[in-house]
Amino acid sequence: MTKLALNNVRPYGEDVTSILIDVEDGVIDSIGDNPFDDADETIDCGGNVLLPGLVDMHVHLREPGREDTETIATGSDAAAKGGFTAVFTMANTNPVIDQPFLAEAVWEKGQTYGKCDVYPVGSITKGLEGKTLTEIGLMARSGVRMFSDDGKCVNDPQLMRRAIEYAKAHDVILAQHAEDHRMTEGAVAHEGEQAARLGLRGWPRVAEESIVARDAIMTRDYGGRYHLCHASTEGTVELLRFAKAQGINVTAEVTPHHLLLTDEMLSTYDGLFRVNPPLREKRDAEALKQALLDGTVDVIATDHAPHGSEDKCVEFEHAKPGMLGLETSMAIVHRVFVESGLADWRFVAKVMSERPAEILRLEDQGRPIAVGEPANLTLIDPQDTWTAKGKDMASKASNTPYEGIEFNARVVGTWLRGTQTYSAKKA
Ligand code: DOR
Ligand code: ZN
Repeated sequence: MTKLALNNVRPYGEDVTSILIDVEDGVIDSIGDNPFDDADETIDCGGNVLLPGLVDMHVHLREPGREDTETIATGSDAAAKGGFTAVFTMANTNPVIDQPFLAEAVWEKGQTYGKCDVYPVGSITKGLEGKTLTEIGLMARSGVRMFSDDGKCVNDPQLMRRAIEYAKAHDVILAQHAEDHRMTEGAVAHEGEQAARLGLRGWPRVAEESIVARDAIMTRDYGGRYHLCHASTEGTVELLRFAKAQGINVTAEVTPHHLLLTDEMLSTYDGLFRVNPPLREKRDAEALKQALLDGTVDVIATDHAPHGSEDKCVEFEHAKPGMLGLETSMAIVHRVFVESGLADWRFVAKVMSERPAEILRLEDQGRPIAVGEPANLTLIDPQDTWTAKGKDMASKASNTPYEGIEFNARVVGTWLRGTQTYSAKKA
């Protein structure tokens, strides 16, 4: 029986202890006050912070169709480097993940590569065309837990109603990209002073909020499990608060970029800052932060969206929306919540691992760091200053909006069921 010792770690940033992992079974074998010295492999973790492996409900790995920008393999590398042990990859690939065999292929590829559990998201409508529902039941039977047309909104209310009813019947999550497309035609930036100054077509908050309000009411009346992708406005937070107070079954995510960045970044017209929904204003970011702290928003999800330079290093209006997220999210969450003193590592574990695992009913993720639990773990050095650079990313693409920015927290090791999937060589 192979045993791995992670000596001198601080689970949830608390007291120093040592963890012994049974590598064959992939579970935590014992936890002790003293270092385990007779293990087959011993790592001195230098008092670094240990969290349950992170779970990302929202990434784009671009396979099949745009393997030039990301594959399931390179995306898994980026995920492991970011501390993730499970990710959900969206259906807006080419072909769209709208049939069971396509979903199964995504899962199989992820498992074969073995760096991260890659869960496929099935599309709600065939070909993401917003016209005909997919076979939600068949895909659910083949293991798909979440359905989304992300990248596009299910705008048609009657179609959304039917989707909610089918999703409820099969007990799966519907994740909505809330954007009234009639209100965002040609829009590339948040509708506000900044867009007006820069001469960019504005994307109003109401384009998101009107869909959130509608969907909350539909969920109230037709049931099911509704999840809101990338909440981006103050008004959305108010609507979520209202919905939750009514006992409506909604959950929501916020991205690291909507917490840290605002539309002030657009002044250079750099396409790296184009994203859907767009970067908003300071008061939106503040409201989202508070909402995450008080549980109105449930989780952080990266919306990792790789694009090639031919689609990003172009005029702002022509740049494709989306930014890399997997390898910088922990550092940003550390900056926004831990360094600032707003929250502790328990909170980070909750919003980046426990809650997403709970929402998606993953039995082996987001579990406590305790004896007998799966050894899905992330080791973080909170005092390892590093500079984000697109060229250093494990991701195939390099469209990070944080180019040249210094962060203090760094993932130094990730383990999936006891097997190390990433090491910064300092673990
Ligand atoms: O910025 C975005 N990029 N938002 C989305 O909803 C889709 C994503 C993508 O696929 O690139
Ligand atoms: Zn997305």
